[in-house]
Amino acid sequence: MSWKDKIDIKRLPQHVAIIMDGNGRWAKKRGKLRTFGHNHGVTSVRETAEAAAELGIKYLTLYAFSTENWNRPRAEVNALMKLLVRTIHKESKTLHDNKIRLLAIGELEALTKKTQKELQEAINDTAHHERMAMVLALSYSSRWELTQAAKELAKDVATNKISLQQVDQELFESYLTTSAFPDPELLIRTSGEYRISNFLLWQIAYSELYFTPKFWPEFRKEDFYEAIVDFQNRERRFGKISEQIIKEKDENEN
Ligand code: FPP
Repeated sequence: MSWKDKIDIKRLPQHVAIIMDGNGRWAKKRGKLRTFGHNHGVTSVRETAEAAAELGIKYLTLYAFSTENWNRPRAEVNALMKLLVRTIHKESKTLHDNKIRLLAIGELEALTKKTQKELQEAINDTAHHERMAMVLALSYSSRWELTQAAKELAKDVATNKISLQQVDQELFESYLTTSAFPDPELLIRTSGEYRISNFLLWQIAYSELYFTPKFWPEFRKEDFYEAIVDFQNRERRFGKISEQIIKEKDENEN
């Protein structure tokens, strides 16, 4: 029996975020260069995007390149940039076939000109698709995002565009790069590491966290389904107690 058969389609998360980790270690275990792992990670991106779109998930956010990744050896950074360009170009069929809209968050100006161009073209070409949005986090880190948001907010207060009294959580959220998306209900990290690594720190306040020992290049549709089933078996309490959640559920069902 597939994990897919165990999924309750009525209780899907709207937004799933993934920290794709373990490309380098997966390649090393095979006596290959780290870039071999990144290349193979593309298959996992395709499989996961298809699985998510087919199920009916609305947003899939992938941590593809962090602010800190700029500190890797130059050859690896260059290879990753080239891979991004190639993948975005080559996978445009996958995006169209599955009616997926591509979006990106992060300090995109820091990417190579070629990457920016390819990315922007794919964003424009897929803008009309409504089945699912695939959000690539590129040159992204949460502390970068929060600092940017604080700066913009401070500027708007200083120029009287908004008053200090107006500042609340909702308004602050509108300054984040993810302001157009709901928060992820589920965050998946591959490769057996138990860390968040500066990813969506504000947005995952109430997310369920799922860690799998599989390296990203090994991650397939079945693994994604398994994570969804695990998510559906959890009780999300949002600070309340179990009895309140059960009562609310009964009231909603009647
Ligand atoms: C983490 O593995 C992975 C990355 C830094 C890059 C992710 C990129 C891809 C999967 C390819 C292209 C993706 C898209 C969305 C077009 P790691 O290198 O940190 O592995 P390690 O922890 O074993 O060293």
